Amino acid sequence: MPTSSNLFMNNKTSGTNSDRLLAVIFEYMAKISVETNIKKMVMNLADLGKQLVAADRCSVWLHEANEKILWTVGGHGVKKISIPDDSGIVGHCVKTGEALLIEDAYSDQRFNRKVDIETGYHTTSIICIPFHNAEGEIIGAFQAINKQTESQVFSIEDLEVLKIASNFTGKSLEAFILRNELVETQKEIIVRMGEIGESRSQETGFHVKRVAKYSYLLACLSGISEAEALKLKYASPMHDIGKVAIPDSILLKPGKLTENEFEIMKQHTTIGHNVFKKSKRELLQIAAIIANEHHERWDGQGYPEGKRAEDIHIYGRITAVADVFDALGSDRVYKKAWPLEKITAYMKEERNKQFDGRLVDIFLENLDQFILIRDEFVDGSEELV
Ligand SMILES: [Fe+2]
Ligand SMILES: [Fe+2]
Repeated sequence: MPTSSNLFMNNKTSGTNSDRLLAVIFEYMAKISVETNIKKMVMNLADLGKQLVAADRCSVWLHEANEKILWTVGGHGVKKISIPDDSGIVGHCVKTGEALLIEDAYSDQRFNRKVDIETGYHTTSIICIPFHNAEGEIIGAFQAINKQTESQVFSIEDLEVLKIASNFTGKSLEAFILRNELVETQKEIIVRMGEIGESRSQETGFHVKRVAKYSYLLACLSGISEAEALKLKYASPMHDIGKVAIPDSILLKPGKLTENEFEIMKQHTTIGHNVFKKSKRELLQIAAIIANEHHERWDGQGYPEGKRAEDIHIYGRITAVADVFDALGSDRVYKKAWPLEKITAYMKEERNKQFDGRLVDIFLENLDQFILIRDEFVDGSEELV
């Protein structure tokens, strides 16, 4: 059996074809290595396989060993399907580590017809190749279906070439899963840190979650890109982290603060800012901005710096609206929750005073969407991370 490398190096008769394959591989490697969306990444991998061997369809399957299932992450004409991990051609490949080349699926006993029944497709020829993680464990399989040439069957050469796509799929998916795990961990740490800040003043963890969701929604509605809005969502839970350094006697005081106490309370903004400002991580830099600017006011009467209007970062202006809307609607040590009408009247009144008027207008025009979030994360309900 020829190896993948000698297919390219010794194939003097079809140099053009080797060049074409290499060009295809490099084109897709460049695309896949920078892709951050798993669906798009898997579709690129499927397109790579399809072009390499002239298949009609390619799909990528992952093995969930704990649940004993195989499921389709993506590919051509694929909706999410899961099958027992000991069934079908894919099950055989994953179990044995063997690559399979099949000319007629329906005459092969291992073929699981359920997939065709569910997709309304008719499979004839198949190549199926298992792929591994860095530890050499099989984590899934790459499948190409129905050769689109006159012969309608795949060749040994196709199998060898497709091993490149399969190998690359294993590496890409593992890198993606690890990277995702890391990002999820970072996000959770941020939320947990935000909860610490809030719990010091006996506010609930749901306050930071709601503020994060309101901020994201308001950002999207105000025309900020999805990517930027997501950064704001992940960083905004830390707006009050500086409260960890404010004494209980002030933070938990039921009555009005004295002038001196209020001066100390105001410091939670700069304390939070100082916690994050030295970080090189983008999310933490955004958290630093939000901690510093969420009590600034459009009219310049806020704190800590008395910035005004668009000198206040848009992230600070958005979080201010989200934070105040939520705080007014919740019980706090110094006040009872306000009814919705009183809150909206207050926000209208504070257009271009406390808040950016444009953001208030967008907020109120889409109030029903914010109410949905409020009702989803009710204080005291079961935790939803
Ligand atoms: Fe605050
Ligand atoms: Fe808050």
